[in-house]
Amino acid sequence: MSKKVDQNRRKALHITSGIVGAVTVAGFAVPFLSAWNPSEKAKALGASVEFDLSKLEVGAMAVLEWRRTPIFVVHQTSKALENLPKLDSKVTNPAIEEGITRSENSKYTVLKGVCTHLSCAPKYYPEIEPKAWDQEWLGGFFCPCHGSKFDLAGRVYKGVPAPTNLEVPPHSFDGDVLIVGDSA
Ligand code: FES
Repeated sequence: MSKKVDQNRRKALHITSGIVGAVTVAGFAVPFLSAWNPSEKAKALGASVEFDLSKLEVGAMAVLEWRRTPIFVVHQTSKALENLPKLDSKVTNPAIEEGITRSENSKYTVLKGVCTHLSCAPKYYPEIEPKAWDQEWLGGFFCPCHGSKFDLAGRVYKGVPAPTNLEVPPHSFDGDVLIVGDSA
């Protein structure tokens, strides 16, 4: 694997969607309107978020924001797809029925970036190399708060504080566009 690709994998794109940005600006500009019209505000907060997947390189992760929750979008490598089934016996709930990537698209995984232990933000470590927390690390997420670890599909390892897999938000795909939200 080239150094350039490796660096790209380590890079997580932090992207806030245009929709969410617009909501934030509107919130500052018209505070009275927000106060007078709570149902509209609630509607905006619940709006779906779109993301152009063509911007996301193989091995990279984007962080979107939906309902004030970070959403991790991982473009899985072929190596990751090959390795994920090898971890079925190491995770608490293999969630086989959800598919290898836990999404309808076998190239991408979409997760809420919130640790299921006490809600810290897990960090993305896609490298396949020994780590302090796992000498046989095949890539995934590590939560520094209390040491929970998840694979690249967000499945929680056995024997860590987090009780369940990282949650998958409602989402769908329209060609190269990912839609996150209830209307998806
Ligand atoms: S909050 Fe992640 S391990 Fe405790």
